[in-house]
Amino acid sequence: MTQLTWDTYAPVFAPVTTSFQSQMYSAAAGYLYGQVVDGGCGPCKLAPYLADCDPVTGYLGVDYSESMVQLGLETLRRLDQPQFKVQRSKIEEVSGEFHSAVSLQSYYSWDHPALVLRHLHSLLVDGGRLVLATANDQLDIHSLLHQASREWLLYPGWDSFADYNRRLAALPQGRFVSLDELVGELRDAGFSIVNAHTRYFQGGLSFVVAEKGPLSKHASGLAAI
Ligand SMILES: C[S@@+](CC[C@H](N)C(=O)[O-])C[C@H]1O[C@@H](n2cnc3c(N)ncnc32)[C@H](O)[C@@H]1O
Repeated sequence: MTQLTWDTYAPVFAPVTTSFQSQMYSAAAGYLYGQVVDGGCGPCKLAPYLADCDPVTGYLGVDYSESMVQLGLETLRRLDQPQFKVQRSKIEEVSGEFHSAVSLQSYYSWDHPALVLRHLHSLLVDGGRLVLATANDQLDIHSLLHQASREWLLYPGWDSFADYNRRLAALPQGRFVSLDELVGELRDAGFSIVNAHTRYFQGGLSFVVAEKGPLSKHASGLAAI
């Protein structure tokens, strides 16, 4: 995925949140706490779901697309949360220390996933949490868009959004790996898996909650969710 493509996608993507995406943002928000880093944040569509989330004390969105970051700045300005920030950077070049890391629908485009996962691991405090969600090898983009289109019948930007998503799902370099493969990569990067499933996007999204280091006592409760 070239940066030009993400820059072009940004204004098409930013105004649309389908109910499928909303379910993903909402679920991810429920696992996050403390200082949160959002890797490949796009226009910070997750941030509104964190704004009223008491356990979350701060948010840093990072994305290497200039257009995505500009729209992210606008999202955060409208949210009026001084402790929420966004910066233009590669995930693998961010520094800092965080209680939680999240990355939604970005992994499939990473050129060096092992490197990025190891870097996310290094950003977390011991026991810190990662929420990773990414489209998998079962994704049926046509079925998803067909269903979602019913929520957006009169929105003039829908066709562009749908076309772009079809193209993204067909990217030859897209890494739409199975849930098992993703879990294996997370373990190789040093994470313990709390919870992993494919219940969202009609089975086409791998959603994994993981922790840095051995699982905490609290994690056994989360695993049941
Ligand atoms: C489909 S968008 C998803 C945005 C957001 N996470 C969401 O779900 O609404 C993928 C984003 O990942 C970003 N991205 C991909 N690889 C990245 C990397 N290595 N470092 C920073 N950003 C990256 C892209 O620029 C793009 O904005």
